[in-house]
Amino acid sequence: MTGDPDIPPFFEVRELRQTLGGQEVLRGVSLNVPRGKTTVILGGSGAGKSVLLRHLNGLMKPLSGTVTVLGTDLGPLSEKALRPIRRRIGVLFQEGALFDSMSVGENVAFPLWEHGLRDRAAIAARVDEVLTHVGLQGHESKRPEALSGGMRKRVSLARALASGPECLLYDEPTAGLDPILSENITRLIDRLQTELHLTSVMVTHHLGAMRWVADQVIFLKDGSVRFSGTPEDLARSEDPAIREFLNADAMAGR
Ligand SMILES: Nc1ncnc2c1ncn2[C@@H]1O[C@H](COP(=O)(O)OP(=O)(O)O)[C@@H](O)[C@H]1O
Ligand SMILES: [Mg+2]
Repeated sequence: MTGDPDIPPFFEVRELRQTLGGQEVLRGVSLNVPRGKTTVILGGSGAGKSVLLRHLNGLMKPLSGTVTVLGTDLGPLSEKALRPIRRRIGVLFQEGALFDSMSVGENVAFPLWEHGLRDRAAIAARVDEVLTHVGLQGHESKRPEALSGGMRKRVSLARALASGPECLLYDEPTAGLDPILSENITRLIDRLQTELHLTSVMVTHHLGAMRWVADQVIFLKDGSVRFSGTPEDLARSEDPAIREFLNADAMAGR
């Protein structure tokens, strides 16, 4: 899927290469992430999914190749120049650790402080608004450690949404959750997507979540794009590597 040719993609990745610890982790990845759609990145453990995601907001710089956000090549940008771009991109990392020394409200307010907002009333109003979005209104003063795994994920999601990003990057948002909580968080992500018209990129190996949210699927294997298309095309793929991945998932009963 290439999206509407009149609307430039949110991300354009071209021939992205990265080497880590002497290993070629990304071997010339090219892809487009259309605006206002959800792109799911699938692939086995070690395929390079998390490393790819870290390039999308400039946390990692390409060894070669380019990552372009709304027409701006991130490669030459300084940390300072990256800041206004990062503000438009919320991130929910797998290890998306909340600060346990801070309340839920302080955690969600953190990116607002980071972005220079100092008006306490405006911060409180925004925290209330995003906590309401994720179904946690009124939980501001709780400590993260007092919450269940599913609620902590929702707080992380609220924190990623706090600065009003146009795009959200998710790394394995359902990892470590039981099937019911996984489904709840997936439904929530899907609802936010619809309500906020976000551009989303979700790394997952949870096929149920992929089928639920994906407009476009990218399958990574050994640092290369092995497939790019719709979830329906993926299901019909006869590529042995993809069949193996899909069948392993079916065997796991997901
Ligand atoms: N900081 C790092 N230093 C060395 N190797 C790394 C680093 N980060 C990731 N790797 C390696 O790169 C490969 C891809 O990692 P990753 O993107 O995390 O995979 P996944 O698809 O499971 O998210 C793995 O082999 C991993 O060990
Ligand atoms: Mg990963």
